[in-house]
Amino acid sequence: VPTLANVTSPVANLTNANTTSAKLVHYYEIEIKPFQHSIYPNLSPANLVGYDGISPGPTIMVPRGTESVVRFVNNAHANSSVHLHGSYSRAPFDGWAEDTTAPGEYKDYYFPNQQSARMMWYHDHAVHITAENAYMGQAGVYLVHDPAEDALNLPSGYGEYDIPLVLAAKQYNADGTLFSTVGERISLWGDVIHVNGQPWPFLNVEPRKYRFRFLNAAVSRSFSLYFVKTSNVGGLNAKLPFKVIASDSGLLQTPVQTSYMYISMAERYEIVFDFSSYAGQTIELRNFAKAGGAGVEDDYEDTDKVMRFVVANTTASQDTSVIPTQLRTVPFPRPKTRRKIDQHFKFHRANGQWLINGVGFAEANNRILANVPRGTVEIWELENTTDGWSHPIHVHLVDFRVIWRRREGRRVEKYESEGLKDVVWLGREETVLVEAHYAPWDGVYMFHCHNLIHEDDDMMAAFNVTVLPG
Ligand code: C2O
Ligand code: CU
Repeated sequence: VPTLANVTSPVANLTNANTTSAKLVHYYEIEIKPFQHSIYPNLSPANLVGYDGISPGPTIMVPRGTESVVRFVNNAHANSSVHLHGSYSRAPFDGWAEDTTAPGEYKDYYFPNQQSARMMWYHDHAVHITAENAYMGQAGVYLVHDPAEDALNLPSGYGEYDIPLVLAAKQYNADGTLFSTVGERISLWGDVIHVNGQPWPFLNVEPRKYRFRFLNAAVSRSFSLYFVKTSNVGGLNAKLPFKVIASDSGLLQTPVQTSYMYISMAERYEIVFDFSSYAGQTIELRNFAKAGGAGVEDDYEDTDKVMRFVVANTTASQDTSVIPTQLRTVPFPRPKTRRKIDQHFKFHRANGQWLINGVGFAEANNRILANVPRGTVEIWELENTTDGWSHPIHVHLVDFRVIWRRREGRRVEKYESEGLKDVVWLGREETVLVEAHYAPWDGVYMFHCHNLIHEDDDMMAAFNVTVLPG
């Protein structure tokens, strides 16, 4: 957690950005800078670039209703633009891809933090080099908490019984340095799975309930996660049950019990896993998703492994946490009397580029694909016509509900629709419907595929939230 400096400074210099200038703001400074990380003990370190020289970057934690300003100082060698993914930031602070900060410069980002408790994340969004910057390590967790959630008595204590698990995948050269093709915009699945920056780590846990906050920060790899006892890997019905309690935009309405969970790039899911019946054993977190596109299924040897939990024999103190049957009333967009599709977006490939409705982000004059009057509820149909690839689609500014999915054998998962999200996994040849309330701000915002190679290769466009005259 970065130092909370200057808490007493009023937001006087932000009077154009909001009307609550008498309030205090949280001010943070984060430096984007190169660092080295040794993955293989006897080989050369990998050269990375991270927020404050670590990856994931420092966790920022703010109470709901407390505005913050984060100064991102770019001391790296490439341009940067920072997006707080999950926040309804005003457009000038939303990490617009072309609003880049050059090496040696800084930008102050203002974040309102008025949304309900949720796990957001800040990451690079610089035009055409997002994949490179993210792959080098530019991602960090940003949590908003609120009294309603704190009152539930879920497993708590950040870093203790409430633990973020940031997934990524990388590849290394024989000398231990980082292997990369992402600068050339060539998909890289990664054969070394990282959690919180460490390859295939383990965590010592007590036999009690834990809250795990998953974020998939990988460039191109999706995961299908499940837990299994080390002693029973591959056994019949070996997947252990757990409860999904939150997704991208915070708590679900009710917990969803499952034994597996899909998590595509940029998605967040929070779960409670109860280790109480596994004292003295080890539990694996594994992955059964195959990476790949265009007919290529990844066949790396160890990408089915993610991490391991070593369960102690006893707890330090009694586990009094609970998982309530009702977590909250989720503010789903109010359904209109007549539901119709307001916008249709086709994600496809043409002329060697990844496009949305035939348009790429580079086409500056054509890339605003929708005008949405502020305050309206719209249903967007997202259609993937590329058979070999899935596209996790992220819409900035809003929280949406995944209301429908069409494809043989796939449907909307219960944990996808019990809460609000800002990324939806659009699988191969799938169509999904997402419904959102386009508020609270007007302005031009991006939406795009969160496979960062596709994003850099132009599968990104914009929508304009407009103010109705009069
Ligand atoms: Cu997580 Cu437009 O980004
Ligand atoms: Cu894509």
